[in-house]
Amino acid sequence: MAREIRLNAFAMNCVGHMSPGLWTHPRDRSSDYNRLPHWLDLARTLERGRFDGLFLADVLGVYDVYGGTADAALRHAAQVPVNDPLLLVPAMAAVTTHLGFGVTSTLSYEPPFPFARRMSTLDHLTDGRIGWNIVTGYLDSAARAAGRERQTSHDDRYDVADDYMELVYKLWEGSWDDDAVLRDRARGIFTDPAKVRRVRHDGPHFKLDAIHLAEPSPQRTPVLYQAGSSPRGRAFAGEHAECVFISGPSAKVIAPRVAALRSAVRAAGRDPESVLIFSMMTVILGHTDAEAEARHEEYRRHVSHEGALALMSGWTGVDFSTYDLDQQVRHVENDAGRTAMDNVSRADPDRVWTVREVAEHIGIGGIGPLVVGGPERVADAIEGWVEETGVDGLNLCYAVLPESFEDVVELLVPELTRRGRYKSDYQPGTLREKLFGEGRARLTAPHPAVAHRQAGF
Ligand SMILES: Cc1cc2nc3c(=O)[nH]c(=O)nc-3n(C[C@H](O)[C@H](O)[C@H](O)COP(=O)(O)O)c2cc1C
Repeated sequence: MAREIRLNAFAMNCVGHMSPGLWTHPRDRSSDYNRLPHWLDLARTLERGRFDGLFLADVLGVYDVYGGTADAALRHAAQVPVNDPLLLVPAMAAVTTHLGFGVTSTLSYEPPFPFARRMSTLDHLTDGRIGWNIVTGYLDSAARAAGRERQTSHDDRYDVADDYMELVYKLWEGSWDDDAVLRDRARGIFTDPAKVRRVRHDGPHFKLDAIHLAEPSPQRTPVLYQAGSSPRGRAFAGEHAECVFISGPSAKVIAPRVAALRSAVRAAGRDPESVLIFSMMTVILGHTDAEAEARHEEYRRHVSHEGALALMSGWTGVDFSTYDLDQQVRHVENDAGRTAMDNVSRADPDRVWTVREVAEHIGIGGIGPLVVGGPERVADAIEGWVEETGVDGLNLCYAVLPESFEDVVELLVPELTRRGRYKSDYQPGTLREKLFGEGRARLTAPHPAVAHRQAGF
């Protein structure tokens, strides 16, 4: 049987997420992001479609590169207002049994000790269904919000991240033995102090002397996701990631990134096939190709080009308001994300992008490809994409929420299942077991986290 194709849903605790302006569509409900029923319904829908997980993006700053102000982002709700993603998780976990939750936390602005406890808490409350998308940020506005002048330079951010990871591994994996908690009512002992160790960390960026405050959770370390594709980002992923999110406009751009990522995993001494790679995609479905195409046209009328360029300016650190719409995009390198710029400047030498084309492309589903059609056409495109790129699955953006995901569940999932490319049931166990197999609730060697375990567990 051909390899299973995995699906993640990509969303954010904000309006419109990757489809700026689409919140104005009469059927879009993404502006209900601040109401819990909105998220509970979405979680139930995704579990009905046997999605592996809901991946929640996050930023800790505003997109204020475009025109030098946050006005365009605010006007078009380009990822602002944005609420905390972590706080949605327990509520969604309470109405689901299997769905995983990959939450983004920007380690540049989250002190590691309370963050490690927050993730352990979520791992407990979800019965081991939590994952962490490790990001270092790309917005100077986030650095200023944290009282800094500007963000740490691009590659140095990943050095800070390495130190952060070592510290949180020690807390999650090394502080408490599995049998430390006795809950022994007869003897009146809750925890055996001999089985809890102080963690000492004296790294280049972080220092700590403490015991982890949470008892061991089902997975201990959350499932580790990563999303940077620059050479330094890849090296970091090679070392730490269990799943990687990538994005790019075409298979031609994505395929070499997948290969480079797997090489980075090999260079870090790990099995390249042991890392699951998800690439971003948006699908617009209908019962027939014609119905889907009509829907696409209808959606397109709601795209905010200014909102799209506000996003692109934030991702790349380049003010797109200074360009003429018909000007070609040229490559610039700075301390924002590197891959977003590469996608439209040099990743595909045969494709020249104008600013207008960038705005139109990003307007529905960000920089990933957009596939429009009935279930068969879309399933064909997905099978072709997986074949050409070597990815393990897709990170599906929505155009209109929840319609886009409901269509995937009703129309695409049955088609992929019929073709033997999609699971007919969830695996039991934690998120890590669902992704990597039974008995794999915890990280295994040679992942670097394992080195921080003490003898005895
Ligand atoms: C699918 C995908 C999702 C991402 N989600 C987030 C996010 O939620 N928050 C964030 O700060 N960065 C996010 N990023 C950006 C990456 O973390 C990283 O900053 C960016 O890819 C640039 O890194 P690079 O220069 O190493 O490629 C995402 C990237 C991709 C491809």
